[in-house]
Amino acid sequence: MNQPIDSNALLAMLQWQVEGGVCDAIGDSPVNRYELEAKAPKPKAAAAPPPLALAVEADPIADAEQMAGACDSLAALADAMQAYPHCDLQKGARNFVFSDGMAGAPVMIIGEAPGRDEDMDGRPFVGRAGQLLDRMLAAIDLSRQAHDAESAVYITNVLPWRPPGNRTPEAREIAMMLPFVQRHIALAAPKYVVLMGNTPCQALLGRAGITRIRGQWTEAVGLPTLPMFHPAYLLRQPAAKREAWADLLELRARLNA
Ligand code: URA
Repeated sequence: MNQPIDSNALLAMLQWQVEGGVCDAIGDSPVNRYELEAKAPKPKAAAAPPPLALAVEADPIADAEQMAGACDSLAALADAMQAYPHCDLQKGARNFVFSDGMAGAPVMIIGEAPGRDEDMDGRPFVGRAGQLLDRMLAAIDLSRQAHDAESAVYITNVLPWRPPGNRTPEAREIAMMLPFVQRHIALAAPKYVVLMGNTPCQALLGRAGITRIRGQWTEAVGLPTLPMFHPAYLLRQPAAKREAWADLLELRARLNA
């Protein structure tokens, strides 16, 4: 007959197990884990982990080239520009400012970016600088309202969204929107391009310094191109209107030739 074990003996046995490394009581009989391990089926070789998905950095310029290159009409280009995800100026702008005048006119004028008035209106060059531009064009019988190709002009900007506070566009903003401007020119197919001020000169000619390069015909995207003072500059520096007048006459002479 089994002798009852007194509590001191039980405590001593428990103590002995704890000292032997037992930490959890999970069954009535001991389990030989070494034996179990030997009998257990070998685990299958773990499948190779999938290659690390590399975070692909977006390339704003490559995306712009791809999106602009896919456009075969001005309407498609305007849609593509509005769907372009990389230019944050869009978030702060009230309106997308694409163009005004007659697409296909012999003269295409390219300015910098919409200002406050253009941002409100949705058309380029409608503020004070734009009104001066209209008077300059009228002086050589050109108009954005004209319906005859002889006197019509087509007007756009390097950037279609207003930079906050009318700040100068950043180099990266110009670079990412340039493929759209180049496609815009190709689709509008003017005979002559006029670049108003330093920003479009920097974008399309790769150089600024409008005081030196104005009035000299050069070439951008394969077309005869005339850099001129920006009308906003002429508002601040009326003395420069003399040179601007000479440049307008130069443009008129080309059109008459
Ligand atoms: N200045 C520009 O360059 N473009 C505009 O549309 C208005 C002001």
